[in-house]
Amino acid sequence: MTTRILFVCLGNICRSPTAEGVFRALAAEAGADVEIDSAGTAGWHVGKPPDRRATAEAAGRGIDLSGLRARQAGPDDFRRFDLILAMDESNRATLEAMRPADSATPVRLFLDYAPSGTRTSVPDPYYEDNFALVFDLLEEASRGLLGRVQAGQELAQ
Ligand code: 4NP
Repeated sequence: MTTRILFVCLGNICRSPTAEGVFRALAAEAGADVEIDSAGTAGWHVGKPPDRRATAEAAGRGIDLSGLRARQAGPDDFRRFDLILAMDESNRATLEAMRPADSATPVRLFLDYAPSGTRTSVPDPYYEDNFALVFDLLEEASRGLLGRVQAGQELAQ
């Protein structure tokens, strides 16, 4: 059965497109049956490609983000996806505020899937310019999430 996962950050130009690119590559390599996408809670960058610093960091690690375009998350995403993964607490709160009344789709912090458990939120690299650290965190969480998908484990716990 296909598992549909949406990654969400604020602008959909740094963290969530990187998460989408990394997880898509790892899932393809593993042959996992997943559909993935990313979105931002804000609409400021809709239609734009990822930030060039995110694209450069990912390219240096063998991941191509150049074809991605930003879009804004909305209530429909609660119907389209099985699991919504927020990059930080603020993203999660914004998502919960747009949850349709009849939706039980889980919204979790993506770093809950990182085995080391050193952080709960992915820092916002747009101003902090820490794209290498952000990539490392997203890669670790992607491997953790993929392991759970592959093991057929309940993803929302
Ligand atoms: P992201 O980073 O949420 O990881 O895509 C940001 C991108 C843009 C802005 C803030 C964060 N911004 O203020 O425009």
